[in-house]
Amino acid sequence: MIRTVATKPFDDQKPGTSGLRKKVPVFQQPHYVENFVQSIFDALDGFEGKMLVLGGDGRFYNREVIQKVLAIAAANGFGKVMVGQGGILSTPAASNIIRKYKAFGGIILSASHNPGGPKEDFGIKYNAENGGPAPEKITDAIFAKSKAISQYRIADIGAVDLDKVGTVEVAGMTVEVIDPVKDYAELMESLFDFDALRALFKSGFRMAFDSMHAVTGPYGKEILENRLGAPVGTCRNFKPLPDFGGHHPDPNLVHAKKLYDDVMSPSGPDFGAASDGDGDRNMIVGKGMFVTPSDSLAIIAANAKLAPGYAKGISGVARSMPTSAAADRVAEKLGVGCYETPTGWKFFGNLLDAGKVTLCGEESFGTGSSHVREKDGLWAVLFWLAIVAARGESVKDIVTKHWATYGRNYYSRHDYEEVESEKANALMKDLGAKLDSLPGTQVRGLTVEKADDFSYHDPVDGSVSEHQGVRVMFAGGSRVVFRLSGTGTSGATLRVYMERYEADPSKHGIDTQEALADLIAAADDIAGIHSHTGRAAPSVIT
Ligand code: G6P
Ligand code: ZN
Repeated sequence: MIRTVATKPFDDQKPGTSGLRKKVPVFQQPHYVENFVQSIFDALDGFEGKMLVLGGDGRFYNREVIQKVLAIAAANGFGKVMVGQGGILSTPAASNIIRKYKAFGGIILSASHNPGGPKEDFGIKYNAENGGPAPEKITDAIFAKSKAISQYRIADIGAVDLDKVGTVEVAGMTVEVIDPVKDYAELMESLFDFDALRALFKSGFRMAFDSMHAVTGPYGKEILENRLGAPVGTCRNFKPLPDFGGHHPDPNLVHAKKLYDDVMSPSGPDFGAASDGDGDRNMIVGKGMFVTPSDSLAIIAANAKLAPGYAKGISGVARSMPTSAAADRVAEKLGVGCYETPTGWKFFGNLLDAGKVTLCGEESFGTGSSHVREKDGLWAVLFWLAIVAARGESVKDIVTKHWATYGRNYYSRHDYEEVESEKANALMKDLGAKLDSLPGTQVRGLTVEKADDFSYHDPVDGSVSEHQGVRVMFAGGSRVVFRLSGTGTSGATLRVYMERYEADPSKHGIDTQEALADLIAAADDIAGIHSHTGRAAPSVIT
């Protein structure tokens, strides 16, 4: 039943910020998926007879790849695969299953917030036994194997019925199809006071949760409507679709604009939240107040004790380098550790495993904790509900009081998408070349204090990750960060992050783009964004 198939390497199977992401037609090339999955297994040791967790966000090509992974896992000697019904597992749910059932690791099929469909994006990611994305030493090994592969092993197992919960044996391997929601819902129930949340909804509090036709639909329905008694209709776009209804399943002010507008309208819900393709991102909106992801991390940290799962307090906070320093101020006040990592959730894994941090967050709409090893969209939403319920205040009041206590970090990210790679690389190269000459210079009335290319020294395993983004720091604490995205699938995306700290509460009500206008102009002066890219304006502002 087991065949060895001769193959040739593809030269483009280098995992990025979050696994291998390509257009569907790339994955559909003969042997492409098989090569990459075999390369993952070739990079690992000791999984013989052990268990693999498998699931995806339900996007186009999900089911086909699930079947291929099952066949390759069986041929490579795994003892068991636990797979979500219908091939579905949200990313945080997969992380939980790996941890809870002590699996060897897991394969998650997703391109996160990128669109899905026959011509859109797909992705394959390996998570290790801690439930988190494989660290760089494993992703580097996978890439090395993919460049040298000459054969893969595959079992002729036919199509496994993914829709029926239960256990089957295929080629000496057990396949258990599980309910994708149950274990996750139980985990949430262990962290938050569901009685208090039920009482919140009973009191007339109205919420809209937009799953953007992606994986969190069934999770939201079960937890918010079934278990917490939120009125039917609270969950929107809850039917997962292979093409996400033709939209970008990316919860931000651009792609979740309707939700934002509804919450802002006087007759709309009190609270809005959305999640992305694979359920790890979140967006939080209260009436009259959009919560930036950077502020969200800080506010959750400051209020963590209000949720039973965190009643003993937190051990520390970590954020990615481009994320605003709002959380640092909370950590300082709490007297707990604070860590700055490169972009990518994988960098939080060691800190979480070592118990150095409890909460992590990124500006890219990711927030999470030690309960799993991925960011977790619905968890963040429940945390916000828990804070609102415990404090009896609106989101707007909670945020403005937080700023009054800690000061406000005005923050915005400007993305220039699908720039020609050559132009984007030239911009970064020119910028890198002038870093040493920047300190002491004046740009738009701002004095450059320091400029560097961020490199991270992991305090747990001592590994070093270089070239993680260019930082230009100005006198007074403002800064601009430049980096190229590691998650795109066509061309390059330049991300420019601007941040300014304002202590004075009387100056906390300014429009963000206005408050950052000098930094936005300075960023262009320094990096020559417009001259390099030919773009007059960013494609997305968050
Ligand atoms: C994914 C990763 C995050 C990362 C984000 C943006 O969601 O899980 O950790 O922050 O992509 O990455 P990028 O390289 O595109 O800025
Ligand atoms: Zn995601």
